[in-house]
Amino acid sequence: MAILTYLTTTHFDFGAIKVLDKELSRLGVKRPLLVTDRGVRAAGLLERVQAVLAEGAGLPVFDDTPANPTESATLQALALYRDQECDGVVCLGGGSAMDLGKAVALLAVSGEPLARFDPLQRGGKLITGVAPVICIPTTAGTGSEVSVGFVIVMNDGRKLTIADPRIIPKVAICDPELTMGLPPLLTAATGMDAITHCIEAVLAPAINPPADGVGLDGLYRGWRAIEAAVANGGTDQDARWQMMMASTEGAMAFVKGLGAVHSMSHAIGRRHDLKAHHGTLNAVILPTVLRFNESVCAEKYERLRAAMGLAPGADLAAAVAAMNKAIGLPSGLAELGVTEAMITDLVPHAMGDLAHFGNPRRASAEEYAQLYAQAL
Ligand SMILES: [Fe+2]
Repeated sequence: MAILTYLTTTHFDFGAIKVLDKELSRLGVKRPLLVTDRGVRAAGLLERVQAVLAEGAGLPVFDDTPANPTESATLQALALYRDQECDGVVCLGGGSAMDLGKAVALLAVSGEPLARFDPLQRGGKLITGVAPVICIPTTAGTGSEVSVGFVIVMNDGRKLTIADPRIIPKVAICDPELTMGLPPLLTAATGMDAITHCIEAVLAPAINPPADGVGLDGLYRGWRAIEAAVANGGTDQDARWQMMMASTEGAMAFVKGLGAVHSMSHAIGRRHDLKAHHGTLNAVILPTVLRFNESVCAEKYERLRAAMGLAPGADLAAAVAAMNKAIGLPSGLAELGVTEAMITDLVPHAMGDLAHFGNPRRASAEEYAQLYAQAL
């Protein structure tokens, strides 16, 4: 079993969940709140995790995580955490359950309200501490198990990103076995989220060569494994392992920042009338943003091409669009319910998103409107 100590101690292998009890005692957590969602419970994964715990099913469970985590669901989970006198959080699920659990761990120690921790607001509240968090991903995409922040849809409709090194989970348990039953479309969407993280992190202008190296390695693995993980996900253990590693590496890399793909997809994801998966949105938007950024990233594009096994000078955007097609994802935002009339609403939210500031070429409001129109 590989044990990677980056900032999170990551246990990574088939069967890794068996270290959960040991890690809880190492962190001194006696009564964790298990944060998950109904789908994870229905897939039998909660039961599998409870089976490796000495307390079994005796620990409190919050399974009401929505598809996109919300402030109100966070407050419900926080109430349960306090009521049950919990002293840590175990997140089991995809990005939503992990992000919601991380938000609970922040509020449990640093107090409320969530909006006061907005990094883009001056005079925001200081993070005084975060309860210990152990994350167990059940998808390979978000990388939230090692990431520096979380994203929550606020009661006022904003999609807020809160990022701080103290939010990085103490422990990640990456057990690719938990992803073997993930359906093809969800494998494709989450996998393209991981690939987008690797690409946007490398392109983000912050100087962090170690993070670039991790991102390029994640891209190398994810790009080669995604088709097999989608086509033979129930049996191809190596493809599942590679995708989970690409996901973890993507999030390690995006400590540098993300870019316009994420600012645009976050703006769409905050709308309750559009149900598109975050990873699907990123996959569909990625070719358009790759074309937009190309003029300022020539050298980095060569490194991306090399990691993806493409010929020098190959059309990156076209390669991504072809991959989307091969793994059954849509070719445009219109297929996901986005209309031209929505663009005026989306643009200011994309410009107010934290990821907007990590894009290598700063987009104006007009340019965002054009990018959305091109991605339709
Ligand atoms: Fe993402």
